[in-house]
Amino acid sequence: MKRALLTLTALTLLTGTAHARTWEAIKASGTIKIATEGAFPPFNMLKGTQVTGFEVDLANAMAKRLGLKVQWVTQPFDNLLIGLNADRYDFVIASHGVTPERAKAVDFSQPHYCTGGAIVTRPGGPTTAAALKGQKVGVQVGTSYLTSVRKVAGIGEIKTYPKDTDVMAALMAGRVNAWVSDRFVGLEAVKAQKGKLVQGDLLFKEQIAMAVKKGNSGLLKELNAALSRALSDGTYARISNTYFGQDIRCK
Ligand code: ARG
Repeated sequence: MKRALLTLTALTLLTGTAHARTWEAIKASGTIKIATEGAFPPFNMLKGTQVTGFEVDLANAMAKRLGLKVQWVTQPFDNLLIGLNADRYDFVIASHGVTPERAKAVDFSQPHYCTGGAIVTRPGGPTTAAALKGQKVGVQVGTSYLTSVRKVAGIGEIKTYPKDTDVMAALMAGRVNAWVSDRFVGLEAVKAQKGKLVQGDLLFKEQIAMAVKKGNSGLLKELNAALSRALSDGTYARISNTYFGQDIRCK
């Protein structure tokens, strides 16, 4: 009996008998539940127990315009889309690149920025794809950077870390020779580390978008409308300039 109960609970957790909240249900509750990682500065990070960053400010501004309060949830990057499909929150904003593989599992909004994966290294380290040959390269697990470095011929070793900030620490400590991450994340790190890190080449480009549970078209429509309002009324430009000193929208 006990075993049967446990099995049922496990199955419910895995398949999620509940449905994603519709736009109407979210609106009626007055609060939208948004998930991010909180360890990808300056896009999403923690300041004490508070989430902050470009994506957090943008999502908060969008929610405000939609007349909603926000409840933030933080999850390891690798769990974010799984939790979305298990209905633990309404949408995810955590710098997910739009890939065909992810698009099979979730629905993506219009992109909220355009970027690419770039190399960061210590002065004198490898700055081009060709120079990664035989080198130890670090990337965050579950990312498009991992997929991309796997395609670079002749890499010595690929080391994966739970958080992108762990990869930077590994690079600083000399445990890897190169770190592949978002070009804006890399730029920030290079600035903050004053002379200890340099940015190398862009390895690939990607569009970054928010994710809703597959089929949640009502919510997706509202998010896209809120994003396009933020893009046209100056909200997006203001937030982007605060974090990057430039407008990082897709052009
Ligand atoms: N843009 C990359 C990807 O799509 C990395 C995203 C990492 N995000 C994060 N919150 N750590 O995989």
